[in-house]
Amino acid sequence: MEKIVILTGAGISAESGLGTFRDSGGLWERHRIEDVASPQGFARDPGLVQRFYNARRAASAEAVPNPAHLALARLQRDFPGEVVLVTQNVDALHEAGGATGVLHMHGELASALCAACGHRWTAPAEMRVAEPCPACSAPAGRPDIVWFGEMPYHMDEILAHLETCTCFAAIGTSGNVYPAAGFVQIADAAGAHCVELNLEASSVRSDFAEAREGRASEIVPLWVDEMLAEG
Ligand code: APR
Repeated sequence: MEKIVILTGAGISAESGLGTFRDSGGLWERHRIEDVASPQGFARDPGLVQRFYNARRAASAEAVPNPAHLALARLQRDFPGEVVLVTQNVDALHEAGGATGVLHMHGELASALCAACGHRWTAPAEMRVAEPCPACSAPAGRPDIVWFGEMPYHMDEILAHLETCTCFAAIGTSGNVYPAAGFVQIADAAGAHCVELNLEASSVRSDFAEAREGRASEIVPLWVDEMLAEG
């Protein structure tokens, strides 16, 4: 049974109008990672962090899936084998495009987390400082985002898929952040065919057997057509 594991990054949502992190003008040019994407930054200035994610939540709510998101949902629906979608993205564009069972390894803007009791709930459009937890009432609501220094979600499940896949595709990710950037090596060691689909070479391009360069909205639908034709 063929199994395709797909890892996506900010590049797949770029053409939906959501900023990437490390392209010129990206989010990390405008904010210091340690100020807005770390537990220390949240403790230091929770207002800044809530405002940062409120802005990204608002932008994400306005964005629509592009042909790359739609193509991956079509692959999941029509491919005879298994298709597992892992994303570093915290937007909901894969789901909006029809994908199911998406593994958000860096969390989701649509979810809120209680730092006191671990309860999760649907995030309000705007989260406030000391957002009260609906379960334990502690003023400890935070974005349900995996910050630097924290453990990504679903790792056991993701690693099990990587070790048993026959094809691994990385789409729209620069390969700068681990553990995601190391997934290709695990899939390659398992004998999978590894392909990178990206606007330009990622930092781990040399780990891939195949690479296709271009905009995701153009090259991903073509790749999906080929995967479905191979069947
Ligand atoms: N089509 C395809 N690829 C694109 C497009 C596009 N239209 N636009 C940009 N890209 C590529 C860029 O060339 C780059 O390689 O997408 C990649 C985006 O890289 P990053 O901005 O580093 O985003 P990502 O790899 O998802 O970052 C990983 O870092 O900051 C953390 O948690 C954050 O999940 C994020 C992680």
